[in-house]
Amino acid sequence: MTDKKKLVVLTHGGAGSNPAYADGTAIAGQMGMMALQTGEPTIDAACQAVATLEDDGRFNAGIGSHKRVDGSVQMDASCMDSSGTFGAVATLEGFRNPVNVARIISQSEYKILAGRGANEFATNQDCQILSPDQIVGSGTDFSTTDTVGCVLRSGDEFAAALSTGGIDNAIPGRVGDVPLIGCGLYAGPAGAVAATGDGEAIAMQVTALRAYQLIEQGVDPKAIVPTVISWFKESTAFGIIVVSKIGFAGGANRGMAWTASELH
Ligand code: GLY
Repeated sequence: MTDKKKLVVLTHGGAGSNPAYADGTAIAGQMGMMALQTGEPTIDAACQAVATLEDDGRFNAGIGSHKRVDGSVQMDASCMDSSGTFGAVATLEGFRNPVNVARIISQSEYKILAGRGANEFATNQDCQILSPDQIVGSGTDFSTTDTVGCVLRSGDEFAAALSTGGIDNAIPGRVGDVPLIGCGLYAGPAGAVAATGDGEAIAMQVTALRAYQLIEQGVDPKAIVPTVISWFKESTAFGIIVVSKIGFAGGANRGMAWTASELH
């Protein structure tokens, strides 16, 4: 395989996730890597990795999603690739893999769907249902975990995907950074970025786009990660994974399960 087809996959279980659960992010990364090896589009590979994390139950996404203050579970997800494909879903209820809904939206005439319309869209697309008894997230000891994500590279192509149950005990309808392009994630011809943490703070910093601009300037991801973390107060949970043509890196101002793998 030439360097042009270098494969890199990074996955994270969220700022505040237990680093001991890196076995889960590693399995998700393997799913993404296998998808790349079989020639699937980068955005599908990223979504498969994130869907694996949604199915883990130890992270705040999919079946591990935390409850809103009224007891409801509302989930956000997004995906993007370096060709400019983007899709996102917000406050989705009752579906197992919101990232798959975001991916279908990315192939539609829309970019972001929320609430009742998103639920109707997912129903019409026969997306897999999540029944209340399948949700294991709330009531666990993972109350600070936030958002799962993936960034990956296949040669000159990049993609990113995210999914979250949102912040614990938020009011229904609250939306964080995840479905906002350039906030929770960004991918372009120079690389891909996926953030995790306090969604309001991440959105106000336009974090992922600004991190991507550092990639465009040729900054090494190993320098980008601490720089971007320094934009946030210590008391604000934040983490990030980054991949570019130069390299890759990840980190957080909390514990964070995350893994990276590469194939040449
Ligand atoms: N970072 C996920 C959220 O704040 O909803």
